[in-house]
Amino acid sequence: HKVLVLNGPNLNLLGTREPEIYGSTTLQDIEEMLQKRGQEAGIEVDCFQSNHEGVLVDKIQAARGVYDYIIFNAAAFTHYSIALRDAIAAVEVPLIEVHISNIHKREEFRHNSVLAPVAMGQICGLGVESYLAALEAIIYKLKK
Ligand code: DQA
Repeated sequence: HKVLVLNGPNLNLLGTREPEIYGSTTLQDIEEMLQKRGQEAGIEVDCFQSNHEGVLVDKIQAARGVYDYIIFNAAAFTHYSIALRDAIAAVEVPLIEVHISNIHKREEFRHNSVLAPVAMGQICGLGVESYLAALEAIIYKLKK
């Protein structure tokens, strides 16, 4: 089984980016944690980050028929990218939307996710553990 972990714009700066909101864990740390947990569970975890919307669209399109699940933190694109939403709807790979911060208790413009209606579900506000919770859910589902 294979899981794709996708991260959107500015998440390459995790660790030093607004640490009071996003914490001090780097993206590399998160990716290593997910890969380690995947290994324990016998699941291959591939990780990819881009600041570019079209590159993320390409990755989602290429995931069709290759990955069992996608874990996606689309960052700011969450709130307005219809292109990403359409790509997710097109490929029919079940996707869990994740956010480090609780987007519902931040600025109004972060409350809405245009991706949520085409995602399997959304996990937010748990810090970097949002990603781990998503992977844990996937591990359980793949074991069934
Ligand atoms: C984020 C929340 C978004 O609103 C923001 O644009 C991000 C990160 C999060 O993980 O909390 O870049 O997706």
